[in-house]
Amino acid sequence: MLKKTLFICLMMVSQALLAQHVKPVYLDDTKDMEERIEDALKRMTLAEKIGVIHAQSKFSSAGVKRLGMPDFWTDDGPHGVRPDVLWDKWEQAGQSNDSCVAFPALTCLAATWNGDMSEYYGHALGEEALYRGKDMILGPGVNIYRTPLGGRNFEYMGEDPYLASRMVVSYIHEMQCLGVASCVKHYCLNNEEEYRHQVNVKVSDRALREIYLPAFESAVTEAGVWGVMGAYNLYNDEHNCHNSITLNKILKQEWGFRGVVVSDWGGAHNLDQAVRNGLDMEFGTWTNGLTEGASNAYDMYYLSKQYQKAILEGKYTEKELNDKVRRVLRLFFRTTMNRKKPYGFLCSDEHYQVARAIAEEGIVLLKNEKVKELNNETVLPIDPVGKKILVVGENAIKMMTVGGGSSSLKAQHEISPLQGLQNRLKDCNCQIEFARGYVGDVTGNYNGVTTGQNLKDERKPETLIAEAVEKAKTADYVIIFGGLNKSNHQDCEGHDRKSMELPYAQDNLITALAAVNKKTIYVNISGNAVCMPWRKQVPAIVQGWFLGSEAGTALASVLVGDVNPSGKLPFTWYENLKQVGAHSFGEEAFPGIWRDGKKEIIDEEYKEGIYVGYRWTDKQKLKPAFAFGHGLSYTTFKISNLRAENTVTTDGEMTFKVDVTNTGKVAGGEVVQLYISDLKCSVDRPVKELKAFQKVFLKPGETQTITLDTDKRALSFWDEATNDWKAEPGDFMAQVGDAADNLSCKLKFILR
Ligand code: GLC
Repeated sequence: MLKKTLFICLMMVSQALLAQHVKPVYLDDTKDMEERIEDALKRMTLAEKIGVIHAQSKFSSAGVKRLGMPDFWTDDGPHGVRPDVLWDKWEQAGQSNDSCVAFPALTCLAATWNGDMSEYYGHALGEEALYRGKDMILGPGVNIYRTPLGGRNFEYMGEDPYLASRMVVSYIHEMQCLGVASCVKHYCLNNEEEYRHQVNVKVSDRALREIYLPAFESAVTEAGVWGVMGAYNLYNDEHNCHNSITLNKILKQEWGFRGVVVSDWGGAHNLDQAVRNGLDMEFGTWTNGLTEGASNAYDMYYLSKQYQKAILEGKYTEKELNDKVRRVLRLFFRTTMNRKKPYGFLCSDEHYQVARAIAEEGIVLLKNEKVKELNNETVLPIDPVGKKILVVGENAIKMMTVGGGSSSLKAQHEISPLQGLQNRLKDCNCQIEFARGYVGDVTGNYNGVTTGQNLKDERKPETLIAEAVEKAKTADYVIIFGGLNKSNHQDCEGHDRKSMELPYAQDNLITALAAVNKKTIYVNISGNAVCMPWRKQVPAIVQGWFLGSEAGTALASVLVGDVNPSGKLPFTWYENLKQVGAHSFGEEAFPGIWRDGKKEIIDEEYKEGIYVGYRWTDKQKLKPAFAFGHGLSYTTFKISNLRAENTVTTDGEMTFKVDVTNTGKVAGGEVVQLYISDLKCSVDRPVKELKAFQKVFLKPGETQTITLDTDKRALSFWDEATNDWKAEPGDFMAQVGDAADNLSCKLKFILR
């Protein structure tokens, strides 16, 4: 208890620090800055202008030394600051001062449904970036979870555009208050990995606007993000790193984006489009650095010597170039030239507290049944005193911060689930045993960063299962840590999963253990949903994400009840792929069909349209394994008395109030969710859509009244006839509850 109090005090102190934290006044969009930009532009030579709009190394671009502007440094990624790599190679440079805090993956952040956590995240990660001399973090990622096979879903914020658009804002704002640019990615429609470089996405304007763009729109128009990373894939037959519709028309003209569009690494493919279609900084174009060609390979980039040559030959004026350079100069004055940036910190206690707090708040308790072997008490939280606990599974011991693609890190430490339990239970007079249970990915390195683990185990699956079953027979609790990992075709960049089933015969293991021990707990470590055919035989199921440096600490806290879980699923947990819209229209809808039979362009049509996630299962009347927004607690809550001062609105602005009571025995957090249904509309609309939520922490017996607001946009759909948002007058329904499938309060209202 003392530890908990201390932790709360520390969090309050760090919150107070956050509050006192004098946000540096950076020269943003002030007259001074715009004057400085114009002044600098006038002074720059053509070569200097060209020099700042393309990379000079793997992760940096040139400043203008003659004018006192330093080089500009970017780095991955969304979950922590990537270790330095060699000038022009992906291999890590082997520094001794770039081990970092690995923060939880963004699906975990989304699962907290708590904007405060985004604020702490952006601030802590921004401080780590400052310390490491990075001017732009290549994150956060907000691509929508369209299929549970998506290799990079773990880096994103789930299936719902509203949830993602709320959770992205303060991450960006807090980071940029430190003078570190965020670079929201991958804009847009990058919802699969396998053919990410070749896929040409066809999607209705409604689905584009209502589902795939809102989180990017909020990043730009609410958080004021300074960078946007174009995605590899094509939309409307143009690569998204230079796309006339997504970049020029929507991002820059319609949303008024004044920051910089950065290519994904190798995402630029065409000089004329790179010049005219919105690209401002070109990175990673496939060169092998200084070795290719007689001179510096970066000279071969599209926005490098060939652009300069084309200007000198009169093919282009400097109009487009000057727009790019103005944006880059604005980025410089916000970052490298920002004299008011505070100091950074690396691996501070506060950063570990933030990593742990987000992990603890993001863990989702999916199932927690009473069992007669525990006198009809729920299996969780466990009572460890004097007990024998069997921990099973490779994911109990495997480091997860190395691998998975560009979000891979060199963490200063990573507490595994087994270590976390051993640390927490060391004074509980209990016996913890371990059984491997299955062997999955025994590698442990990425870009030269190694885990140092030797996970080799030559035993056969049946031997591993038999060993675990034998030990389980005499254990008081069995805690299985399974799920996915960061290897190819799991939760990993560059590939998608080939199926939704658990790999490595884990289903056999889980089934066998549940058969011999009724107090079996399954903890799934992943960024994606997996099939759980044994779900009814396992009394307790927890979704533990890729939780970063404090993974084991956080999981142990929740499993023993130090922390009452309050996470909610940021995506629908389907029973299987048959319940998924993206997988209901054949190959054309996923992963796409090669055009003209050549392996160049693969056309993928989002035939499910706006019906993604719960929007699809509602429409098809399907019952998923666990609903969007689902998450249990060790206490219980009652949500009641939904009301509104008036139930007629002319501008869509409604203020709903609802009472939330903790009706259980322990303190806990609840996420009150508001879904809106348009009961009659000239176009087909989802049964309901999330349009507001709030997390509240209550002591036993405590009641609070929550306010949930909507506006016109919350009632609107994208009208393809007028290319604008439209809310049709008529009857609407507000539904409030604690999950998409548990909305206990309903209230009709009218839009006049
Ligand atoms: C990768 C990723 C992108 C990352 C970049 C730099 O291909 O798509 O998210 O930031 O390249 O590593």
